[in-house]
Amino acid sequence: MGEIDVPEIKFAVHMNRIETSASAMMSQRAREMKAEGVDVIPLSSGQPDFPTPGHIIEAANAAALRGETKYTTISGSVELKDAVIEKFKRENGLDYSRDEIIIGNGSKQVIYNAIVAGTGKGDEVILPAPFYVAYIDMIKFVGGVPVPVACGLDQDFKITPEQLDAAITPRTKWLLLNSPNNPTGVVYEAEELKLIAEVLLRHEHVSVIMDDIYEHITFDGVKFATITNVEPALRDRTVIANGVSKAYAMTGWRVGFGAAPAGMVKQMTKLQSLVTSGASSVGQAAAIAALNGPKNFIRERAKSFEARRDLVVSMINQTTGLSCQVPKGAFYVYPSCANLIGKTTPEGKVIQNDRDFVSYLLETENVATVHGDAYGVSPHFRISYASSTEELLEACTRIQRACAALK
Ligand SMILES: Cc1ncc(COP(=O)(O)O)c(C=O)c1O
Repeated sequence: MGEIDVPEIKFAVHMNRIETSASAMMSQRAREMKAEGVDVIPLSSGQPDFPTPGHIIEAANAAALRGETKYTTISGSVELKDAVIEKFKRENGLDYSRDEIIIGNGSKQVIYNAIVAGTGKGDEVILPAPFYVAYIDMIKFVGGVPVPVACGLDQDFKITPEQLDAAITPRTKWLLLNSPNNPTGVVYEAEELKLIAEVLLRHEHVSVIMDDIYEHITFDGVKFATITNVEPALRDRTVIANGVSKAYAMTGWRVGFGAAPAGMVKQMTKLQSLVTSGASSVGQAAAIAALNGPKNFIRERAKSFEARRDLVVSMINQTTGLSCQVPKGAFYVYPSCANLIGKTTPEGKVIQNDRDFVSYLLETENVATVHGDAYGVSPHFRISYASSTEELLEACTRIQRACAALK
């Protein structure tokens, strides 16, 4: 029998606008190296190393046994929406009704829904840089225009009201703000948000997406706030994205939630009906138990992240050529490697940029981190310290050794 010539599937050109995220690629590479027997320390992944608490798993199990294994309402089960409404009231002092809440497959889907539903071709989205890698591709995918605003270490990686004002044009659709921030760990405090809100009040055509996913991981007594806390007048043009992934160590359950004006929630739901038909029923049952259940462990875990932050910041700041500010939240540090650019490795390779530096760490000392270029501000790199103290100690010792070997 002759071979049948099957033509390869041609990909649509819009696929060229997006890439797999740098952190996912780095984590994938670290897993492959581990499978090959390499003693790799992955500091590239954006998830807590803690397990999901037992009472949440039990609630999911019970829900499945009760038969809660069918599709829920596309925008989320009524019970979970009510738990989310209570959460916003209790923890944030914000009031929402059921038609202003949407449940998605992670906060990522909520953000994606909002971007797709609200961003037309050529619409601009202001992104304080460094930013979470996924945003930029979501915006590009729908034909929107990302407008990164460089916020370097000299301004604590935060956008100033003046920068925001200058970045706004008649085509600006969104400001996308993430606090506590991935990758820098900086937190916008209420007074800072108030100044940003004042700019937004002057530009009625600009809406806001607040990515509050790290809400519960703050340090040094810093208090989380979201923009509608400081300026309730922005409520009707704000989408809040949040979820259970980070606070409750539930990244794999894929449940997030959003609050937005009812009309926006309707459009986001329409999109979601097309793509996923909603979040998993069992995952939603787990999220109800999380939001309505005990909270002590959240503070305890944040304390543990704080101790690990102190360890990593201190060791990085004792490393030749590296320097790092002290983040107030999330579980990342974003050190500068500017003083190492132009140095030569023992193999004779010149470190030209943060990509080279991160590859050097991986190849010579088997420590996986993510290059700052992916987050929009170089030369930096991101370390996720959601790993055990022993692993962090060993990883930082290896980083110190690698940096000391550069000439
Ligand atoms: C800033 C930020 N937003 C959103 C997400 C998505 O989280 P999830 O979809 O698990 O809720 C992440 C995950 O790493 C993140 O770092």
